[in-house]
Amino acid sequence: MRVTVVGSGFVGQTAAMRIVQRGLAEVVLIDIVEGLPQGLALDIKESSPVERFEPNIVGTNDYADTAASDVVVVTAGFPRQPGMSRMDLLGKNAAIIRDVVGRAAEQSPNAIIVMVTNPLDEMTFLAADVSGFPKERVMGMAGVLDSARLRYLIAEELGASPLGVEAMTLGSHGESMVPLPRQATVDGKPLVDLVDEATLERLYQRTRDGGAEIVALLKKGSAYYAPSASIAQMVDAIAGGTDEVLPVCAWCTGQYGINDVYVGVPVRLGSRGVEEIVELDLNEDELSSLRDAAEGIRKKCGDLAKL
Ligand SMILES: NC(=O)c1ccc[n+]([C@@H]2O[C@H](COP(=O)([O-])OP(=O)(O)OC[C@H]3O[C@@H](n4cnc5c(N)ncnc54)[C@H](O)[C@@H]3O)[C@@H](O)[C@H]2O)c1
Repeated sequence: MRVTVVGSGFVGQTAAMRIVQRGLAEVVLIDIVEGLPQGLALDIKESSPVERFEPNIVGTNDYADTAASDVVVVTAGFPRQPGMSRMDLLGKNAAIIRDVVGRAAEQSPNAIIVMVTNPLDEMTFLAADVSGFPKERVMGMAGVLDSARLRYLIAEELGASPLGVEAMTLGSHGESMVPLPRQATVDGKPLVDLVDEATLERLYQRTRDGGAEIVALLKKGSAYYAPSASIAQMVDAIAGGTDEVLPVCAWCTGQYGINDVYVGVPVRLGSRGVEEIVELDLNEDELSSLRDAAEGIRKKCGDLAKL
């Protein structure tokens, strides 16, 4: 499999490294800054004898080198600075996404696009619009990351291993994230039997604010280790390496009573992109929060047209 990673900043370069090191695909790393992707690719290749992987990565500034990619991961664009919301990035990043998605799609007309640039849900919609690709071949990464953050925080709270924690978040990447307490387990036990309501709410809010917490600590730039791990997990699933159901920003066509909008839902990924949106048994509260999140995204996507 051939994967192009557009944007060689912190998220793009760590995602490229994880994909190559795990042997998931050959990677083309591209950026607008001359020399940056080439230097990073060389650095990654020189780690291969020590880390023991095949050095299948090239760095480039030329979209011709990305031709015939199976997957295009888009990380180009500005990250948040302290005090900024993801929405503050809308205008600046929309211009970048229009440019890079148009170029990448022209070179790889059969690719699956995995959007990462924020604001995630709206940039995923824009990527589908600009590429003209079937909607099942355009998706966004956010739910895997939000769920990983929540799983870690639950483990930390309970002194458990993160490996024993299962939890999923749906909805939007931000305030309208929808946690699913009834689906969460710790070492096979229901989470709701292990913590009280106030603790649950505190963990959910910290997850929603998870990106901002790291931005405030770093003071410059945003998170990239957990985001790049989440990208690699999606690439692995697309490559057919897993049959897991992952929370993905996907185009809904009636599932959960939601139509014609991108929002975070449980998805089975494969070589055709979103192979199936899985309909979990949500209660009325969860359903209504998911539908509200979808309507919020729809409204913001409407604002995109005015930019
Ligand atoms: N979806 C998520 O869960 C998630 C998680 C983390 C970060 N992000 C987002 O990912 C994006 C990247 O974050 P980062 O930390 O890597 O930022 P960064 O500033 O480290 O890197 C961005 C890169 O994009 C490049 N770039 C800018 N314009 C370009 C263009 N026209 N063509 C090609 N490359 C271009 C820059 O040169 C830079 O190398 C941000 O928008 C951030 O908010 C999303």
